[in-house]
Amino acid sequence: MTGTAASDGPERRGTRTEPLPPPDSAQYGETLRKVFGVVPNGVVAICALVAGEPQAIIASTFIPVSMNPPLVGFCVQMTSQTWPRLAQAGRLGVSVLAESQGLVARRLSARPEHRFAGLSPVISEDDAVFIEPASAWLECSLRQSVPAGDHEFVMLGVHATAVNPGSEPLIFHHSGFRSLHPASRDPLSLESSTWF
Ligand SMILES: Cc1cc2nc3c(=O)[nH]c(=O)nc-3n(C[C@H](O)[C@H](O)[C@H](O)COP(=O)(O)O)c2cc1C
Repeated sequence: MTGTAASDGPERRGTRTEPLPPPDSAQYGETLRKVFGVVPNGVVAICALVAGEPQAIIASTFIPVSMNPPLVGFCVQMTSQTWPRLAQAGRLGVSVLAESQGLVARRLSARPEHRFAGLSPVISEDDAVFIEPASAWLECSLRQSVPAGDHEFVMLGVHATAVNPGSEPLIFHHSGFRSLHPASRDPLSLESSTWF
């Protein structure tokens, strides 16, 4: 091998990060919330009829996972009262909320007895519950769940889908709701991407 150390690769100098504060300090949660809040996320309502009662969890941790087989996932807090009920449902309705549905997201994550007040959900033959309107809908069933710290990572198999053309999604960012704006310049068009 020839060449100087400087031309062998990227230079190692300092760091961009700081160690996390101790987990029992006030700054710990603040630090993590600040950095996690930078990541923009869509918002879904995961709903089903369980023993005749509609159940709902709002999740901003939803992600497409796999094309074949079709899988999606989300993270649910270990302390959730609703997830153990929803996990019993044969089918789960996942509604990708539209930009105008911030209030719906708030309502569906409020006290359980008030969650569906004023909403007219659509209920499938298999008791999956869908919110109307929304940007997209997926009818799913529970495939697997894995403990992940103070959350559980839940994987769902996708059975049926629908998209509401032209409906812009709701975005959760820095603990608030936002809308998408087209990037002013897009030097790298991903229209021909083979990844999702
Ligand atoms: C915008 C938004 C995003 C949320 N994302 C999640 C999430 O990804 N995972 C989760 O467990 N709870 C999330 N929640 C909170 C749940 O919707 C719900 O309030 C929480 O599970 C407590 O209710 P439960 O005990 O009935 O489950 C979110 C709430 C809001 C408003």
